[in-house]
Amino acid sequence: MLDGRRILLIIGGGIAAYKSLELIRRLRERGAAVSPVLTRAAEQFVTPLSVSALAGAKVYRDLFDLTDEAEMGHIQLSRAADLVVVAPATADLMAKMAGGHADDLASTLLLATDKRVLVAPAMNVRMWEHPATRRNLARLAEDGVLAAGPNAGEMACGEFGPGRMAEPAEIVSAVEAALGAGPLAGRHVVVTSGPTHEPIDPVRYIANRSSGAQGAAIAAALRDLGARVSLITGPAAVPPPPGVAVVRVETAAEMLEAVRAALPADAAVFAAAVADWRVANAAGEKMKKDGSGRPPALELAENPDILASVARMGAGRPRLVVGFAAETTDVLAHATAKRLRKGCDWIVANDVSPATGIMGGAENAVTLITAEGAEGWPRMGKDAVARQLAARIAGALG
Ligand code: C5P
Repeated sequence: MLDGRRILLIIGGGIAAYKSLELIRRLRERGAAVSPVLTRAAEQFVTPLSVSALAGAKVYRDLFDLTDEAEMGHIQLSRAADLVVVAPATADLMAKMAGGHADDLASTLLLATDKRVLVAPAMNVRMWEHPATRRNLARLAEDGVLAAGPNAGEMACGEFGPGRMAEPAEIVSAVEAALGAGPLAGRHVVVTSGPTHEPIDPVRYIANRSSGAQGAAIAAALRDLGARVSLITGPAAVPPPPGVAVVRVETAAEMLEAVRAALPADAAVFAAAVADWRVANAAGEKMKKDGSGRPPALELAENPDILASVARMGAGRPRLVVGFAAETTDVLAHATAKRLRKGCDWIVANDVSPATGIMGGAENAVTLITAEGAEGWPRMGKDAVARQLAARIAGALG
């Protein structure tokens, strides 16, 4: 909730400005007070009257409005808020912010504020991908500016790709996270992610095809709900999200140690594809062909089951322990049995047969198995699965 929090909302001039009206409603529903600022370009997309009506507050429109200066100077306005939100943050507005310009009310407020700033970028995909925008975004991140989105999808201009403004609900989550007010504020969640690499010798290893995408998305979604997240990741293809504490490991044994070191936690989500076996007789030197034509025999030893060991620990067990079950046959039966065998509270089950394209792909189709039974979720993006799971975790931790 955002009771009593004050948001200075700067609405930039882009087609996504219409979503800012919904954003105002959602922020107010959660108890925030919204002071809206419209750039001149924004007034081409939404009217001051509708913005003011929804905000239930005065709309600030122009730097040189003498009445406003008398009522409340721009310095004061920029500091009276708990958080400054720029939505939509156009390419132009982001460039001005990165360059420190102050030639209208919005940019002056952004330069004068001593509060954190959250941008929700929205622009054409080419503009988003332009090196100038990448540079500006990197500069803003260095300056401590937070970002929500953009999302990928079909755009108003008819093109497809990243650049769509984040949905109002996502921006509200980012606002809550920035203000430490999300439903998971004060909670610590441990997430494992990615594959593990089990050495055969110093240069070779046994691994699997996990990209780490689902685990990274879960860590980001939990962070967005305000949790402090410890992400313990094997060598994944997908980079860890910003704003979470990352511990990089290679082997299952290292992952177990890192998980133990990260506890205590309120919840733990084991999304890693941990190798079941390691090479028991891993060589200290690179193995060579000996000319006999006989390949070396690799002796395997079973790895510790990280999920089961945490789920079965007595004192200090996280209140909610969530495992994954990647199966290729009889998904439901195997996953239901796995929940009991491992002693975890929930299992997120999915079918990773090659035909589904899930392993390494952008989408996932999961079934959530709890003590109450099985619940099939429709196929959706891994980010959406992560957000839904994070919301369920927030609900369970209360
Ligand atoms: O037994 P299986 O590998 O199918 O179990 C999958 C679940 O157990 C996942 O949540 C995975 O992260 C976890 N796991 C683990 N340590 C292992 C093997 C699996 O934490 N050694």
